Amino acid sequence: MPLRSVLRGVGKYLPGEPVSNDELAQRVDTSDAWITERTGIKQRYFAQPHESCAFMGAAAARAALSRAGIDAAQVDGIILATATPDQAFPATAVHVQAALGVHQGFAFDVAAACSGFIYGLSIADAMIRAGQAKTILLIGSEVYSRILNWQDRGTCVLFGDGAGAIVLTAETTDSGGPGVLSTHIHADGRLGDILYVDGAVGQPDKPGHLVMNGREVFRHAVAKLAGAVDEVLASNQLNYKDIDWLVPHQANRRIIDAIGKRLGLGAEQVVVTVDQHANTSAASIPLALAEAVEDGRIKPGHLVLMEALGGGLTWGSALVRM
Ligand code: ACO
Repeated sequence: MPLRSVLRGVGKYLPGEPVSNDELAQRVDTSDAWITERTGIKQRYFAQPHESCAFMGAAAARAALSRAGIDAAQVDGIILATATPDQAFPATAVHVQAALGVHQGFAFDVAAACSGFIYGLSIADAMIRAGQAKTILLIGSEVYSRILNWQDRGTCVLFGDGAGAIVLTAETTDSGGPGVLSTHIHADGRLGDILYVDGAVGQPDKPGHLVMNGREVFRHAVAKLAGAVDEVLASNQLNYKDIDWLVPHQANRRIIDAIGKRLGLGAEQVVVTVDQHANTSAASIPLALAEAVEDGRIKPGHLVLMEALGGGLTWGSALVRM
C-alpha cells in the first residue's frame, strides 16, 4: 500500500473587520458596481498593526492542529507560503514555530506568490513520501494590504489579508483511500513583468508595491489553469466527472467560473470565497478549504481539485482525496 500525505485538519484566520466595497470607495476612486462586475469581490479583511504574517499564520495553524487533534509537539516541520513575509529573514515559518511552542524539525518559507500553497503542498507531499517527515504544517499567510499601491485603483481593490493552514500526516492507505494523489507545479520567468512587486528589502528606499497588467494576467490564467487541471486529471487517469469539489485560488470570479465551466462542474461544486475575502494570494486556497470543511460541504472521501496561478508566472494543480 502506498505511503501518502493525508490531510488531517484545516484552519483559518481572518484579521480585523470586513471592509466592504462601499467603504473602500470612500478612500479610492472606485465603486461597488465596478468591483463586483469585474471580480465578484464584495468585501475583504485588512490586518491591524499587530496582525503580522506570523501572527495570522500561527492562529490558522492552531485551528488546523486543533481540528486534527494533533499536538504541536508532534509537528516535524512547518512550511509557510507567503509573498508578504514579516522579515527577509528569518523565515516567517520560524516565528510561527516559536509561537506554537514547536522546538523540533524544520521551518521555512516558500515564495511562489499566489501559487505558494500549491508549491508548498508539492514540497510537503514529496517530503512525507520520501520519509523525511511524518507530520507537516502547511500554512498560507498574507498581508497584501502592506504592499498595495493605494493610488492604483486597478489593483488595490482586488486583495485582502488572511491565513489558512492544513496538517498533513504520513499514512499508508489503499489506492482509494485519503491523501494527496499528485501535485504539478510550473513557472515561466519570461512573464515576470506582468505581475510583480517593484521593490524589496534588499533595495534601498524601495519597499515595493504590487504592479499588475490585469488583462495579460487574465489571459494567461485561463489558459494555464485549464492546462493544469487537465494535467492533474490525466496523471491520475481520472476525468472531470470524478471530481467532487474545485477549490481554486480566489483571484477573480470570472477566472474561477471559466475553470469550473471547463470542468463541467455545477456552481454548487465550486468553493467560492473571493466575494468575502478578495484575493488573499497564498492564503486563498486553505482559507476556502477551511470554510467548506467547517460548514460540512467537503466531507471525508471527497475528491478535491485545487489550482492556482500567480506572479512569476507560477502555477500548479493538486488532487486530494479527503
Ligand atoms: N474602479 C473603477 N474603475 C476602475 C478601477 C476601479 N477599481 N480600476 C480600473 N478602472 C477603470 C480603468 O481606469 C479603465 O477606465 P477607462 O476605460 O476609462 O480607461 C477601466 O476601468 C478598464 O480598466 P482595465 O484595467 O482595462 O479593466 P479590466 O476590464 O481589464 O479589469 C481586472 C481589470 C479586473 C484586474 C481584470 O483585468 C482581471 O480580471 N484581470 C485578472 C487578473 C487578476 O485577477 N489578478 C489578481 C491578481 S493575480 C492572481 O491572483 C492570479
